[in-house]
Amino acid sequence: MLRATVTGAVDPETGYLINIQIVDRAIAQFVAEQIATLESLGLSYLDIAIRSPVLSKYLPSPVRLVKMELVTSPFLSFLVEESMPMSVQVTQEFEFSAAHRLHCDSMSEEENRDCFGKCNNPAGHGHNYRVAVTLEHANKAEAEFSMRTFEQTVKEYVIEPLDHKHLNVDVIEFATLNPSVENIAMVIWKWVKTSPLGTQLKNIRVYETPKTWADYRE
Ligand code: NI
Repeated sequence: MLRATVTGAVDPETGYLINIQIVDRAIAQFVAEQIATLESLGLSYLDIAIRSPVLSKYLPSPVRLVKMELVTSPFLSFLVEESMPMSVQVTQEFEFSAAHRLHCDSMSEEENRDCFGKCNNPAGHGHNYRVAVTLEHANKAEAEFSMRTFEQTVKEYVIEPLDHKHLNVDVIEFATLNPSVENIAMVIWKWVKTSPLGTQLKNIRVYETPKTWADYRE
């Protein structure tokens, strides 16, 4: 999937920023001319992502392409933004299952139940968490280098320490820190920051449910 985001002034007559069919046609032409060429050369998704600012030339001015995202699977995507056309943001998604309990010792039992609801259940409860790790690469060589170690590094630094654990009991970081989705994102950020991927880390997003997530970035 290709997702293009454009910006510009709304036409006072039509009320349109741009006729969506023009965007569709521009992308179709971009795919036909650019991506087909790259694929026939045996180049990677990374090469295609890096070419995405070229889409601009298929769009009528004064509409501008702000960003373009290439989604190659439900777990992997590449984003190029107008403001930094040479850099690529790569997001890869991982999952782990864990139990936790939200509780503050400083609050009464009743206050804890009011604040955390079912999440205060004394024996804990479980979630299937998803973690989206975004790395930002200044150039293609850096991206290619990190792509080789991305999955293995996140598994080692993040998934192994969390998967099938009771966060409050088994993970030292949550011995006194409430394992809320916000704090889980912060702890994962710190772990990835100390890994070989640390210098490229852009964002950590943790989904506690499909509708509830937290982002943590510098
Ligand atoms: Ni919970």
